[in-house]
Amino acid sequence: MTVPLLSIRNLDVSYPTARGQAQILSAVDLTIAPGASVGLVGESGSGKSTLALALLGLLPDNAKIQSESAVFDNCPDALSPAATRRLRGIDIAMVFQDPMTALNPLFTIGTHLVEIQRRKFAGASRAELWARGEAMLARVGVSDAGNRMRRYPHEFSGGMRQRVVIAMALLVEPKLLIADEPTTALDATIEAQVVDILRDLRSELSAALLVVSHSFGLIAELCETVIVMYAGTIVETGAVGDVLRDPHHPYAQALLACEIEPLSSIESAEPLVTIPGTVPDPANRPAGCVFAARCPARHDRCSEPPPFVSQGNGRGFACWLGVSS
Ligand SMILES: Nc1ncnc2c1ncn2[C@@H]1O[C@H](COP(=O)(O)OP(=O)(O)OP(=O)(O)O)[C@@H](O)[C@H]1O
Ligand SMILES: [Mg+2]
Repeated sequence: MTVPLLSIRNLDVSYPTARGQAQILSAVDLTIAPGASVGLVGESGSGKSTLALALLGLLPDNAKIQSESAVFDNCPDALSPAATRRLRGIDIAMVFQDPMTALNPLFTIGTHLVEIQRRKFAGASRAELWARGEAMLARVGVSDAGNRMRRYPHEFSGGMRQRVVIAMALLVEPKLLIADEPTTALDATIEAQVVDILRDLRSELSAALLVVSHSFGLIAELCETVIVMYAGTIVETGAVGDVLRDPHHPYAQALLACEIEPLSSIESAEPLVTIPGTVPDPANRPAGCVFAARCPARHDRCSEPPPFVSQGNGRGFACWLGVSS
């Protein structure tokens, strides 16, 4: 078996709140092989960005982060502040949802593309870095890249800015590229173009990809495997095609139905499918299955935490339905 690029076991993240410690991630395992593409899907508030930001060491100071083990490449203790500082922007790069959070309005696009490379390519001249930046800007589909290098972020459209941010992330030749909702700020046409760029570049570059999204559709376009997250726990994993065709966990089934049904609801004028109930309060999580209160298949055993039932080849789900009684 190949040695994983990233391997995290039993990750917990919590915050102190007035109502007690809020558990945002609970017993999360994450393994990414070199060059693999993994999607992380779940509804808003499920902890997706928390996981991504933990990998980058960008969680707020009051976050309590604990794990049994966290190894990135040859770096043990990969979630420690010292390790994340060293890896961030060199071996792990991030494309954020809103490109303006990554762009400084006072600097030209060229300056952004040069400065991002400084740490990784410390010996290179500005002219070399500028040329690499310009080539990458052209590569991500910005026409007239030479001229655009001298322009400012506000002179770019949303879709163009997202291409700049992707170019910035790729210029450092990371071993892991994390894209957190890379297309939600874009309209459907531009979204399709950005997905195409990410897919093309993946086949050219050796970086592993972690795509964070609330949309199964986006993950199916870009990833081989998917992790379904609910209320800070992993409820199902597997090859994207397998999970899409036959989701096992009732939450994965419900989430997928919410995404697929709207189209047929328009035709049939049926009400939109939603998942009844709300996500548990992170400061007051249920002792048993976190999804039980909303689950159509719940039964007595769900008052105990379900085991994660592994079915081989990375497929598995955390539900008592998978345990023969
Ligand atoms: N500093 C903090 N203190 C307390 N709770 C926090 C803090 N930051 C985030 N949270 C909580 O953590 C939970 C998970 O947030 P996170 O942003 O990781 O979710 P997400 O899955 O990325 O959601 P979205 O799809 O909306 O981006 C939320 O309930 C949020 O309120
Ligand atoms: Mg998020």
